[in-house]
Amino acid sequence: MLADTRSQTPEHIAIIMDGNGRWAERRGRPRIFGHIKGCGRVREIIREADRLGVKKLTLYAFSSENWGRPTDEVSVLMRLLYKWLIRERRELLEKNIRFRAIGAIHRLPVTVQRMVEDTMKVSQENSGLQVTLALSYGGREELVTTARRLASRVVSGEISVTDINEDLFSSQLWTADIGDPDLLIRTSGEQRISNFLLWQLAYAELYFTDKMWPDFKASDLRLSLDAYSRRQRRFGLTEHQLEVRV
Ligand code: IPE
Ligand code: IPE
Ligand code: MG
Repeated sequence: MLADTRSQTPEHIAIIMDGNGRWAERRGRPRIFGHIKGCGRVREIIREADRLGVKKLTLYAFSSENWGRPTDEVSVLMRLLYKWLIRERRELLEKNIRFRAIGAIHRLPVTVQRMVEDTMKVSQENSGLQVTLALSYGGREELVTTARRLASRVVSGEISVTDINEDLFSSQLWTADIGDPDLLIRTSGEQRISNFLLWQLAYAELYFTDKMWPDFKASDLRLSLDAYSRRQRRFGLTEHQLEVRV
């Protein structure tokens, strides 16, 4: 019996929502059109994750490296983010969803920052699904920020070098009380992490689909959960060890 390591709904799903630009270009439309369509998909996926009993959903919306895109595209993305927050806030609250953001939020335009902070604040007591947007997020930047934070605590004498262990390190990450994803989904056919949650994905199950993000539907999320349920997470142990544990 392997019931403890299989057939479970992942508690925490992370998604790299990729392929908006190509989706639009294949239709002879500007990339921006794909971003608009992609934004529209988010609601359906949040609803479905909620319905399926997922506890945490972490969505990669804009990376540290995405700042290097053409200025026009970056400003459209920022505007879309702002509009998304305005449009979705009511539904998030109605559904008891807790909204959070991780990343270098201070790099976002001030209007967006305010909206992000405000949405986090008004939803902070909500006990339902936790939706986290990774905005201006880079895994390496997060790790460097964490290393600096710990180094300054050592310098100030608050902690000693030997106090630094995996638990303390995790507790200083941007994801401190969000934790590690069980399942990572990436759309668009690319099979890479692109600087997303480098620490947190250590033991996540990876699921890649050729669907572009604007085409990723609730049924596609269910397919990824089916695939997850057929995986056996071993965390470095042997199959036999997992069997005798039951
Ligand atoms: C994902 O789609 C959205 C962001 C990175 C902001 P892309 O814009 O990367 O679309 P492709 O990968 O170029 O098709
Ligand atoms: C990753 O997609 C970032 C987001 C989806 C927000 P990218 O399109 O930026 O990644 P690469 O460039 O293909 O690795
Ligand atoms: Mg891309």
